[in-house]
Amino acid sequence: MSEHILVAIAWPYASANIHTGNVTGSHLPGDIYARYHRLAGDHVLMVSGSDSHGTPITVVADQEAKSPREVFERFHHGFLELFQRLGISYDLFTHTDTENHHRVSQDFFLALLEKGYLYKQIQEQMYSETQQRFLPDRYVEGVCPKCGYEGARGDQCDNCNTLLDPKDLINPRSKFDGSTPIVRETEHFFLDLPKLAQEELAEWLQRGKEHWRPSVINFARRYVGEGLQGRPITRDLTWGIPVPAPGWDGKCLYVWFEAVIGYFSASVEWAHNQGRPEAWKDWWYDPAAKTSYFIGKDNIPFHAVIWPAELMGVERLYEDDPAKKLNLPYDVPANEFMNLEGRKISGSRNWAVWMDDALDRYDPDALRYYLTVAMPESRDTDWLWDGFVHRNNDELVATWGNLVNRALTFAYKRFDGQTPTPGMLEDIDTQLLAKVEAGFETVGQLIAGCKLRAALSEVMALAREANRYLDEKAPWFQIKEDREAAGATIYTTLKAIDSLKVLFAPFLPFTSERLHQYLGYEEPLFGRSCITTFEEEGGRVHEALCYDPSEATGTWQPSQLPPGQTLRKPKPLFKKLDEDVIKEELARISAGEPVA
Ligand code: MF3
Ligand code: ZN
Repeated sequence: MSEHILVAIAWPYASANIHTGNVTGSHLPGDIYARYHRLAGDHVLMVSGSDSHGTPITVVADQEAKSPREVFERFHHGFLELFQRLGISYDLFTHTDTENHHRVSQDFFLALLEKGYLYKQIQEQMYSETQQRFLPDRYVEGVCPKCGYEGARGDQCDNCNTLLDPKDLINPRSKFDGSTPIVRETEHFFLDLPKLAQEELAEWLQRGKEHWRPSVINFARRYVGEGLQGRPITRDLTWGIPVPAPGWDGKCLYVWFEAVIGYFSASVEWAHNQGRPEAWKDWWYDPAAKTSYFIGKDNIPFHAVIWPAELMGVERLYEDDPAKKLNLPYDVPANEFMNLEGRKISGSRNWAVWMDDALDRYDPDALRYYLTVAMPESRDTDWLWDGFVHRNNDELVATWGNLVNRALTFAYKRFDGQTPTPGMLEDIDTQLLAKVEAGFETVGQLIAGCKLRAALSEVMALAREANRYLDEKAPWFQIKEDREAAGATIYTTLKAIDSLKVLFAPFLPFTSERLHQYLGYEEPLFGRSCITTFEEEGGRVHEALCYDPSEATGTWQPSQLPPGQTLRKPKPLFKKLDEDVIKEELARISAGEPVA
């Protein structure tokens, strides 16, 4: 039975380059999950985009003396190229400054207003007298009232993840110039979280969340249990989506209110681009559809509490049937953080492994492999260059690559470039195949449950098993006495490899695709990602990454490798890395650090 699966991935701010921590936190796990479900025959819609509003963008624009639009468009274009190179197979990676997203966000706002979930209130906001302007929440810093952390930001404490109001900070100061801000009045729209949340949301968080990660569901329950307060969803800003109400010039929708709406607006945009403008409804209104949100732990309150509250409040949009309601998140598999060599990643100190830079030197699947084995699924992890080199050499090259290389070159040279026709298979042959084939069930379950590290280690264990089998049967000796027996061994190995290729494919799409060709198949496993330019009705033009699945033929099923299939000349799938790489890369990151 095929399901509708929405893979919703956190929208990166288009004001900083993407590093390994961002990739392993959300984009890569979402991609693995999506690729698996596509192979399994499900209807996958994987969306995200550049978060182009908010102070992170305006601050960079100020620093560079550029317009916010110039800044976000530059980063956005870089993201598209990066995800294409890394094989992050977005059905649509768009951005939040499209006409479509503006309209949908304003419609969300108006629907909430109409349903009585928004109210106006004069608010006291931090105002900088030195700069003569209201300070964005995250540019007020001080001591966290909750945990006492010294460097808490006005929007959220990085130490305990609590969402804050900048006025709650003890000893507040402006991040721009260190001056002490004053409190000044301004009117804003508030999301009535108490009205929305106390019953319906609290109840929803209690029901059927057994598959949620404990860290996520516990946080959400605690947060709601402590009693929610209304949250302002507009700001005194000019860069963003205008508040759709008369007399509200100079104020915009708060970036967090509208960015999460991107999951919905991107689905609408995708359907429009497909020429099937209603197609998005299969993911948003069919209660059987599963919507999963791949995010980092700092985003938990917004995805496990605020976004569900927005969805509950709106109830339905662009849909007249009163029996239908927007789907609430099926899962929010938030990851912890990936640090770098034991220290927190810091873009400004250049203590980071920038993804596009890493792709200039290493193959995408080698990077994806390490980013999966070290994925911070249940606790913070580290990117270690030593770990990268050794996992690449000892596992990808020595186990999986070696297995493929030995079997394929042997078949290519000694069996006339064809898969041999086996005679009778022995027990040891059928046992290996049975083990590998059982992997489709176990590995599939693990991926569907977002246990990606366990899933990959299971596939690698099966590859190890196949390697042992090949050593034991040693077809290079068999062939001297009994060509047919050697043929059975090689056929069995190739068939196991053909299955392993699919089991590895969600993790290692590039090398699985190449192996698929070496094995003699004509049609690709996966579809293709393209950067496309779209023009909207009002004339605005934007670039997006799109996935075209039309030529994909891969299926999550055991190999049916035909005997006598013509092979292509194989080349090694992976490259062994020199130990010196570790020293070079460590020097590269520390060279970027400013001298103290
Ligand atoms: N750009 C924000 C961040 O990187 C928000 C991401 S998720 C969104 O933390 F859905 F809200 F966009
Ligand atoms: Zn705190």
